[in-house]
Amino acid sequence: MVVAEQRLGGSSILRLGSILIILAAFQFLGCSDTTNVENITNVENVSGFDCAHCHADIEAKWSGSSHGDTQADVAMELAEERSGETPEEVLHGDDPENCIACHGALAVTVGDSLTEEEALAHFFSTENGVFTENTEALDTGEWSHVGCEVCHNVPEHRPSTAPVLSIFDSPTAEYAAVSGASELCGQCHGSLRFDTDHQTYDQWKSSLHSATQKDVADSLAAGYAGQTPYDVLHGENPADCIACHGPTSILANGGMTEEEALGYFFTTEGGKFTANTTVAHTDEWPNVACNACHDQHAPGPLPSFFNSTTGEFEAMASGEALCANCHDRSFSDPDHPLMSGKGKGGAKACGR
Ligand code: HEC
Ligand code: HEC
Ligand code: HEC
Ligand code: HEC
Ligand code: HEC
Ligand code: HEC
Ligand code: HEC
Repeated sequence: MVVAEQRLGGSSILRLGSILIILAAFQFLGCSDTTNVENITNVENVSGFDCAHCHADIEAKWSGSSHGDTQADVAMELAEERSGETPEEVLHGDDPENCIACHGALAVTVGDSLTEEEALAHFFSTENGVFTENTEALDTGEWSHVGCEVCHNVPEHRPSTAPVLSIFDSPTAEYAAVSGASELCGQCHGSLRFDTDHQTYDQWKSSLHSATQKDVADSLAAGYAGQTPYDVLHGENPADCIACHGPTSILANGGMTEEEALGYFFTTEGGKFTANTTVAHTDEWPNVACNACHDQHAPGPLPSFFNSTTGEFEAMASGEALCANCHDRSFSDPDHPLMSGKGKGGAKACGR
């Protein structure tokens, strides 16, 4: 760290305040998760939007994931199901589907900017203005898939400017605010913006995984009065409520520990829970979010488990292995697994 400080101190661009923020962020994120310090000193040589320069690990995970490989799928479906239609008809016709918005929103920023129709025609081949069974992907090097800046609004990024989680909405070519990770996912995996058959978010929203905060508050008030967050997590009868009820809450407000999260999201008096303990900062509480079970930078058919103690994702070999991290029994045969159970679980270390 001392070496790093000296190096950073030599850079004329970074002020001391941002250096401290960066060093703190490294401690939280872990160096392997983001850039190495050497790269930051090169900030003046970097185009503001070259995410991979400083976030090579994330870029590598992402480029091997479903979000990093969307163009061929769209080309195939346009050829198979939209033969004879113009881009305008695909987007606005009898069976409208905005492939651009969900599969490659940044396509409208290419060149001097394109409309969505122009983007569809630019990136997928047509003959006489219509898609055919021979339609294929074009200009593949420029297609950005579900890229970094679809989900992160990075205004004039420097390490000291915090990017904001947002959705780049191609119909308006502007960022729109989202309340958190799950609502971000729901822009494409749910009906928040479009009438679609991808309804994972809608299912999640109606499940208990999306409403966990009040239960924890009630239980802290009923069973943990007089204890500090530290006592609850590490005392005589330890129970890590955060790990199971809202693991990604440790990412809130710039990042925090599980202990801090317990004190941030549930009220204390004099540092202790009381019979009056209730919920706090509810609009930042993530519940059991999409990214508690899926690595947002490496989504694929198998889930991942976000371990709030380490702040790292753990790859899961199956859905059941995932459930077992929080439920002591597995659930069988689910469609989307979240919705099919009827409370046959039970918590391993649940503080009830
Ligand atoms: C010059 C190096 C550099 C470049 C280029 C860069 N980043 Fe960063 N980024 C950092 C550093 C260092 C941090 C950690 C310090 C901080 O949080 O400010 C960071 C943090 C972040 C964070 C986490 C912020 C938070 O709230 O904790 C996100 C998200 C992010 N970058 C996204 C991006 C995206 C997307 C791009 C490309 C558009 C990008 N970055 C380009 C260096 C860079
Ligand atoms: C509302 C957002 C949305 C729109 C609009 C949309 N897609 Fe998708 N598409 C998705 C999502 C999300 C997936 C991942 C599906 C999953 O696994 O749940 C997907 C998956 C796919 C797949 C992969 C195969 C499959 O069915 O799982 C193809 C092919 C595809 N879309 C083509 C298209 C085409 C072509 C259009 C436009 C005509 C389009 N999509 C419009 C969100 C969208
Ligand atoms: C589908 C949306 C999505 C895409 C695409 C995406 N991210 Fe993220 N990113 C997220 C979410 C969600 C988080 C976690 C923030 C939270 O839950 O509060 C995150 C967190 C981060 C962080 C901070 C934590 C960490 O993992 O180090 C960085 C840095 C980051 N993203 C960079 C990138 C870069 C670089 C890319 C492109 C290679 C990218 N992201 C693509 C959604 C996305
Ligand atoms: C801008 C639209 C968009 C957003 C936002 C988005 N996704 Fe996706 N996602 C897609 C598309 C499109 C695909 C399918 C790509 C393909 O197969 O061609 C996909 C695929 C996936 C898959 C893989 C499905 C499979 O069977 O392989 C998972 C898991 C996933 N997304 C999770 C997430 C999570 C978690 C978030 C929020 C952090 C998120 N997505 C946000 C568009 C989006
Ligand atoms: C190992 C994971 C885990 C830990 C740790 C954990 N819980 Fe739970 N909790 C669960 C699961 C899973 C459920 C849902 C069980 C079910 O309904 O079958 C649950 C349900 C609950 C409920 C729902 C109401 C009820 O009685 O069914 C309350 C309240 C609750 N937990 C409070 C807490 C509190 C407070 C803590 C920390 C002191 C905590 N839990 C720690 C996993 C956990
Ligand atoms: C409690 C954990 C959990 C949460 C929360 C969760 N998922 Fe999943 N998800 C899974 C598991 C497990 C699978 C794999 C299902 C299987 O075995 O095929 C899955 C599958 C998926 C798939 C693949 C296609 C499908 O439907 O089978 C997508 C896309 C997806 N999830 C997106 C999301 C989004 C978006 C959210 C938030 C709205 C979310 N998930 C929340 C556990 C979760
Ligand atoms: C990160 C921890 C976590 C994971 C992983 C997880 N759950 Fe849960 N689950 C919970 C918590 C916490 C609750 C209780 C929420 C409450 O009642 O406040 C819950 C509740 C449920 C419920 C509702 C129980 C009831 O009493 O109605 C079902 C069903 C369920 N989970 C299924 C699953 C399945 C299936 C998986 C694996 C795909 C899974 N969960 C993975 C934490 C988790």
